[in-house]
Amino acid sequence: MWSVLVVIVLLHLCGVCAQLQASTNVTCFPGSNWMINSMGQIPCLVVAYLSADCAGTSWMVAALTDSLTQSYTFPTPDTATKCRCNTVAYNLISACTVCQGHAASPWSEWSQNCPAQITTVGSYPLPVPSQTAIPGWAYWDPTPSGTFDALAAHSFTPLASQSSHSKSHVGAIVGGVVGGIAGLALVAGFLWWLFRRRNAKRAAANHPNMSQVTLNVKPLKPYDPNDPSTFPTTPTDNRPASRATTVPRILVATRPVGYSGPAEV
Ligand SMILES: *[C@@H]1O[C@H](CO)[C@@H](O)[C@H](O)[C@H]1NC(C)=O
Repeated sequence: MWSVLVVIVLLHLCGVCAQLQASTNVTCFPGSNWMINSMGQIPCLVVAYLSADCAGTSWMVAALTDSLTQSYTFPTPDTATKCRCNTVAYNLISACTVCQGHAASPWSEWSQNCPAQITTVGSYPLPVPSQTAIPGWAYWDPTPSGTFDALAAHSFTPLASQSSHSKSHVGAIVGGVVGGIAGLALVAGFLWWLFRRRNAKRAAANHPNMSQVTLNVKPLKPYDPNDPSTFPTTPTDNRPASRATTVPRILVATRPVGYSGPAEV
């Protein structure tokens, strides 16, 4: 059991020991609280963590300036990674834009440098870094409308299978536990087999004639008034036979079970 626990603990620590450096200095407007994920992070910080994961460097999402036309730069050929070329990252950065009072850019603009083979719509293609969590609304598909729609995303309920965050951990834990139980069962089975074999050997040594003993017990026959061998044995002493020995003989003379009256209409 210890090995299983150690594996589970290591799986959890590994996400933490690969420290991602992500930050933001965005302050979202009040009213965008629904965008905050289960870890209390605004979308600007969530997408910073996702971007940092593929970039392998620290990532900062800086606050937009007061010019309302300003928006975040879409992935360049250098930063067009699996972590950013997906609608989840696009929704997050768009929400980060909207929560500062700016207008979101279209998905086609965000994804213009994304090779088709690494572009994902409606899901996040990689395990989610353990320092963050993807909020459910970020799985909303912006491709039919073309641009992030805060109202539509806000009322969107993702399918359970879309949130890959807990899936990777649950999968690892379930795998570890099932593997551990299977291993334990194997060891227990082997020990049980050893134990039985040792006992069988010891029994054979103590009773060498055991295998030649034949059971001298006659099989039990049901009581049959025509077969004297099934009659209850009479006590050998001269006490009067108890009533019990005679009762079965009387009881057995019963009428047939089948219906013997006139045929029913
Ligand atoms: C956010 O950080 C960027 C880069 O460090 C800086 O230029 C900008 O002034 C900061 N904005 C705010 C609102 O702190």
